[in-house]
Amino acid sequence: MPRFGLLLLLLLLAALCPPAPARQNPASIAVVGGGIGGAATAYFLRRRFGPAVRLQLMEKAAPGGRLATEQLHGQAYEAGGSVIHPLNLHMKHFVQQLGLSPVPLPGSLLGIYDGKELVFEQSSWYLINLLKLLWHYGFNGLRRYLWVEDIVDRFMRIYRYQAHDYAFSSNERLLHALGGDDFTLLLNQSIDEAMQRAGFSQKYIDQMASPIMRINYGQGVNINGFVGVISLAWMDSGLWSVKGGNKLVCSGLLSASKAEVIPGTVLSIEPKVRPGPRGDPVKLYQVTYSTGSEVTGDTYDMVFIAAPLGPDLANISFKNFEPPIRQLPNLYHQTITTLVHGRLNTSFFGYPEPATFPFGDIFTMDKPNLFFSSVGKVSSVQGVSAEAELPSQLATWRVFSNEVLTEEQLNLLFSSYDSVKVKQWLAYPEYRPPEECPPILLHDHIYYVSGIERAASAMEFNAIAAKNAALLGYHRWHGNGHRIDQEGLHEKLKAEL
Ligand SMILES: Cc1cc2nc3c(=O)[nH]c(=O)nc-3n(C[C@H](O)[C@H](O)[C@H](O)COP(=O)(O)OP(=O)(O)OC[C@H]3O[C@@H](n4cnc5c(N)ncnc54)[C@H](O)[C@@H]3O)c2cc1C
Ligand SMILES: *[C@@H]1O[C@H](CO)[C@@H](O)[C@H](O)[C@H]1NC(C)=O
Ligand SMILES: *[C@@H]1O[C@H](CO)[C@@H](O)[C@H](O)[C@H]1NC(C)=O
Ligand SMILES: *[C@@H]1O[C@H](CO)[C@@H](O)[C@H](O)[C@H]1NC(C)=O
Repeated sequence: MPRFGLLLLLLLLAALCPPAPARQNPASIAVVGGGIGGAATAYFLRRRFGPAVRLQLMEKAAPGGRLATEQLHGQAYEAGGSVIHPLNLHMKHFVQQLGLSPVPLPGSLLGIYDGKELVFEQSSWYLINLLKLLWHYGFNGLRRYLWVEDIVDRFMRIYRYQAHDYAFSSNERLLHALGGDDFTLLLNQSIDEAMQRAGFSQKYIDQMASPIMRINYGQGVNINGFVGVISLAWMDSGLWSVKGGNKLVCSGLLSASKAEVIPGTVLSIEPKVRPGPRGDPVKLYQVTYSTGSEVTGDTYDMVFIAAPLGPDLANISFKNFEPPIRQLPNLYHQTITTLVHGRLNTSFFGYPEPATFPFGDIFTMDKPNLFFSSVGKVSSVQGVSAEAELPSQLATWRVFSNEVLTEEQLNLLFSSYDSVKVKQWLAYPEYRPPEECPPILLHDHIYYVSGIERAASAMEFNAIAAKNAALLGYHRWHGNGHRIDQEGLHEKLKAEL
């Protein structure tokens, strides 16, 4: 009975003292960058903060960013980020929400080239292929499958955490909440070291893992173990892309977010204090941008930066911050995409008779004199491929390389061609483990979305970082500390079931 009395008293007190009024939503928010990171940030911010907040997004070039297409022979082809994994749940969700359609990646036979000859040739017969893999690499293939699956399984926890509105204040904490010290350790070592520790043979690492790293990141097995494992997951089946072009996801998210897109280059961000309606000081950020014809700007309660920072990248200066926000020496790797409509020179790969050359994908080993990372037949963004013309090898090919190909090099790779499109990218970080991710929180209400790329760069990662930043911004604004940096979430959410 006394306990019951206490409860009544507490209830009475609660009724007498209403909770402090919830803080008002911010009036206006700026997002810098209209790639998948910025578009997804705008989309998640709108969902969190509702219809009233003014959302403005500055984009200096075209929405889509590193998702872009190039025209060749009247068809459009992906020239930047192209392949999406079947377990990329945010990308899947966007495509469904926006009424877009996926197109499966056309399956091609794979050859691995060592600079002189093909050291591995995939067969179209499942069983023969299995025997070939066993013969060459023993059980390394199975080991890869299990090893990667375990890491991807743990990584997938992020979707539950985010569905329950949990956010992390740093990229390290986010990764640690998913995979503990194992994930942190992966960032500290190269994929080469990580695979050796996991018991893979050097032959498998050189002939299978390294070519995958080269096609995905233009770099060899010296990249960090985490991005390396993500890269290995790209050997799975079920890869897809978005019909009409992946960049449609960005424009779709932007219109769904009802953000006002301002064509302009953000030059600087500066803290400002203004008197509020009751005379109390209100902290704001002045964002200054150039529209080409003029330099202008506005003030915002919050700023989200969804473009890689660094002098050669987003190049935003942070003025008058105390302590100062340091410039990030963000090294990005140059990758050249060359789209070629022509006939592959099969002699180059040791097949003087083009009709006998069955491969549509050639990955390369890490050899010093190789001038390209990979060459593969590609379908247009509508899913149209030149499969029927296979024996003549007349098709659209995509070459990835670290330098622009010379005419001489093109003439070595192709016996003939009639059109070429070249796209130069600062594509993804130059990975150098031990890797340290940049902070997410640059100031009270300035969030940096793209720092996650230091762990791993891919559309899905920037989308995950976008949702995390939007949630983090929301919770910090409203003082929901219990939704930030929670430990033991996996166990906790299991118990909630
Ligand atoms: C060749 C290549 C192949 C790739 N392959 C894949 C793949 O197969 N699968 C995959 O998942 N990922 C792939 N990626 C990676 C993927 O494309 C990126 O991770 C992703 O697109 C990054 O999105 P983002 O929005 O974070 O950055 P970005 O797309 O770079 O967007 C940033 C935007 O900000 C704008 N901007 C920059 N500075 C300013 C400023 N000061 N003011 C205003 N606007 C500014 C830029 O114009 C840009 O539009 C690939 C990338 C490249 C280049
Ligand atoms: C990774 O390296 C950093 C320093 O570079 C260190 O502080 C951290 O403890 C290391 N983590 C693991 C799991 O090895
Ligand atoms: C970066 O911006 C500063 C001024 O804001 C400018 O002086 C500098 O030239 C820019 N750097 C590059 C590489 O564009
Ligand atoms: C094709 O490759 C072979 C072998 O590398 C080379 O000798 C030849 O010049 C290349 N070009 C053409 C058009 O055959």
